[in-house]
Amino acid sequence: MSALLDQIEPLKQTALTELNNAGHLAALEQVKGAWLGPHGKFTALMKQLGALPREERPAAGKLINAAKAELEAALAARREALELAAALPAAPTDFTLPGRRRPLGRLHPLTQVADDIVCAFRRLGFAVADGPEIEDEYHCFDALNTPADHPARDTQDTFYLAAPAEGSHSKLLLRTHTSSVQIRVMEKQPPPVRIIVPGRVYRRDNADATHNPTFHQIEGLYVDRGVTAGDLKGTVEFVFRQVLGPETRIRFRPHYFSYTEPSFEIDFSNPLVRKLGKEWLEIAGCGMVHPQVFENVGYDPELWSGWAFGFGIERLAMLRYGIHDIRLFYENDVRFLKQF
Ligand code: DAH
Repeated sequence: MSALLDQIEPLKQTALTELNNAGHLAALEQVKGAWLGPHGKFTALMKQLGALPREERPAAGKLINAAKAELEAALAARREALELAAALPAAPTDFTLPGRRRPLGRLHPLTQVADDIVCAFRRLGFAVADGPEIEDEYHCFDALNTPADHPARDTQDTFYLAAPAEGSHSKLLLRTHTSSVQIRVMEKQPPPVRIIVPGRVYRRDNADATHNPTFHQIEGLYVDRGVTAGDLKGTVEFVFRQVLGPETRIRFRPHYFSYTEPSFEIDFSNPLVRKLGKEWLEIAGCGMVHPQVFENVGYDPELWSGWAFGFGIERLAMLRYGIHDIRLFYENDVRFLKQF
């Protein structure tokens, strides 16, 4: 055998060792180039084939081709192994470990209570409405028949903005109740009206266990022909039973609001109230829409009648969940929020 043929086997062995030692894909490509590339050692060997005596060439060619095929197969196998290794995570993965659970967010308790009430009203055909939190004096007070000397309009009780409303003499303020939305909606649409208004309101109270300068209310307004206080009582009873449980009873006590006549306060009674050692707890204000309010929005009070109510969401949520400090709702302490 010629010296050329003797070189094939050891060269192939060295090439195989180098291929199998390549630790990553780039290194493997380098090894490939060094052996099988145009200037590679194995390629050089093949080029020497022409220098052999004619009768030795076929056998030598066969040997070299076989060795080359072996190298190429080894290269492909190594490449596949390295590609797989590159795709796998560096650290070993234990697929039998339980999955990592991400803590799930949930709705704020105030949102949950408001949603429940809104849902109950939607079943009765009420639509959700909203209005601006920065309101003018007209919509918050005047149109609701609240006179200029009413204590609610005092700067002690209401946040006023320094700038006046554009194109109007009406002062701007942060709405003190959602009742302003009654006016906004009636100004925009003719009767009948059936709306429910969850929203944020503002009052100049110092924060303590039962007060906060901002809190939330739900307002309801129903206007149609022949609407009665009986409808009001039946509706409120239906909704409170949905939200506070089937044993809930309600009663109306005469009261005064400038935008309703007659006006009532709504008390309710159920096991939650009795747990507080009371029989009745005041929860909402309501009444039959005052004819002057209808006049103010251009509704004919001879044709239309209606009722309205409003109450605080925090108060209801505190009762429902047994919370004793209103400020907990606003601190967003996860330990508190997790409970709901
Ligand atoms: N606006 C009242 C408040 O903030 C609640 C209220 C009372 C709303 C009577 C009404 C109503 O719509 O008719 O305390």
